[in-house]
Parts: sequence; C-alpha cells; structure tokens
Amino acid sequence: MVEFSLPANSTVRPGKKVSNARAAKNKRVFKIYRWNPDDKQNPRLDEFEVDTDAFGPMVLDALIHIKNEVDSTLTFRRSCREGICGSCAMNIDGLNTLACTKPLDEIKGDVKVYPLPHMPVVKDLVPDLNLLYAQLASIKPWLQTQSPNPPKERLQSPEDRAKLDGLYECILCFCCATSCPSYWWNPERYLGPAILLQAYRWLADSRDEMTGERLDNLEDPFRLYRCHQIMNCTQTCPKGLNPALAIVEIKKLIVRRRG
Ligand code: SF4
Ligand code: SF4
Ligand code: FES
Repeated sequence: MVEFSLPANSTVRPGKKVSNARAAKNKRVFKIYRWNPDDKQNPRLDEFEVDTDAFGPMVLDALIHIKNEVDSTLTFRRSCREGICGSCAMNIDGLNTLACTKPLDEIKGDVKVYPLPHMPVVKDLVPDLNLLYAQLASIKPWLQTQSPNPPKERLQSPEDRAKLDGLYECILCFCCATSCPSYWWNPERYLGPAILLQAYRWLADSRDEMTGERLDNLEDPFRLYRCHQIMNCTQTCPKGLNPALAIVEIKKLIVRRRG
C-alpha cells in the first residue's frame, strides 16, 4: 500500500484556549486556524470562547469581535460585510463560504474556521490568491472589440443582456475554485471553475467580438478539460451561481465551432 507522509511542519497542533465569556449566558467556542510565517512554528488551532450577545449574527461579526476584544493578531480579509466584495471567503464548518453572510445559527457546536483549502497561506485565514489572479488576467476579463467604436455606447438588447444573468454576479471569492478536486491537483494548469465562469461571462456577451481568440485560449486538455462535473463548485458558491454549467457551455461552443 502507498504510504503518504506529510512534512512535520504541516501538522496542525492544538493552540491556546482563551475565554472572555465565563459569566455569559450565551457563548460559543470558535476554533480558528492560526499560522504566522514569521515565528517558524507549525500551524495551530486556537480556541476562543466568546459571548454571542456581544456581537452580530454572522461568523464575520464573531471574528471581528475576537480581533477587537481578545487577540488583535488574528488576521483575515474582509471589506463590504454584505456578500459583495468576496474578500471574507474562508472554510467554515467544513464548507467554503463568506464569513459575512454565514449565520452562526446555521452551525451546530463549536465553530471551526480555516482558510480556503489547498492554497498557500499568507497568514492565519488569508490565502495567497496570486495564481488565481494571474489565471484571471490570462482570460482577458474585459470587453474586447474590433469594429470601430460607435458614437455612444455599444448597445445590447434586453434579451442579450439577460444571457449574462447568473454570470455577472460572480464576486471572485474563489470558494468554488478551492473546493474543486481537479483544481487542487492541477492548479498550475487547470483554470478551475471561477476563472472558467468568468471566461464564459465574456463569451456570452453579445458585444464582445473576440469569441474565436477566447476559445483558442481555452481549447486545451488542461486549461478547460480537467472538469469532471463533480459539482463541488456549484454546491459551494455562496452567490448561488453554477460554474459547472458555464464550463459545459464553453465546451458546447467549442464543439459547435468545429462544425
Ligand atoms: S464541476 Fe468541474 S469545476 Fe466544478 S468542482 Fe467539479 S471538476 Fe471542479
Ligand atoms: S462562481 Fe461563486 S464561488 Fe465561484 S468565485 Fe464566483 S461567486 Fe465565488
Ligand atoms: S466582507 Fe465582502 S463578501 Fe464578506
């Protein structure tokens, strides 16, 4: 049997236990992944017991409370606090989702919080997204045209505009890409569901005039064809989008142009 052994410094060790809620009526324990590249230690799982009446209903409210009141070194990304910016994506209770829209009420028992899986970690709950942003740039996610600019804007019929529904809402949180086994195993070569949904968003845009070049860029055994329709991406998307379907639509466009 094949035996795998992980490097010693990859083991997550138990961390500190802190409570600021001993006398509180309603309290929860948060088990949070911690790793600091500067201290050369293994990652650890810190436990914070906090008074849930002291902050709002979402997991992000709890993280902000812990950072403000208990441990100011806790590091995570967040901006909008309403599911728009995508920066607070993390793994909560075993699922990739947005901390700002994940209600504590939906989680039973202790709340386990990890960074998005299978990505290098910058610190604590902050994943390194440089590769994903480079892959996003590679599909040229902007309107490309060849015909002369019209005097005013490039018009689009309501019917054509409707074709972008389910695509334009993507907030690039990368919950889907980091839940995709195919992306885990081939992150350098497979574009993954988030980037492919973005690629289809521009292929589906009636105003874009570079369909051929865009398909040329995607028609590759690794960049597109590593999707095996496992559907983790669609199940995890916190915006209710369907990247797996977008990937099918790209494959259909490629088949159609082969004639
Ligand atoms: S459907 Fe495709 S892109 Fe989505 S998780 Fe599965 S393999 Fe990945
Ligand atoms: S498709 Fe959904 S999960 Fe994937 S990046 Fe966009 S919003 Fe996030
Ligand atoms: S903070 Fe912007 S999506 Fe959560």
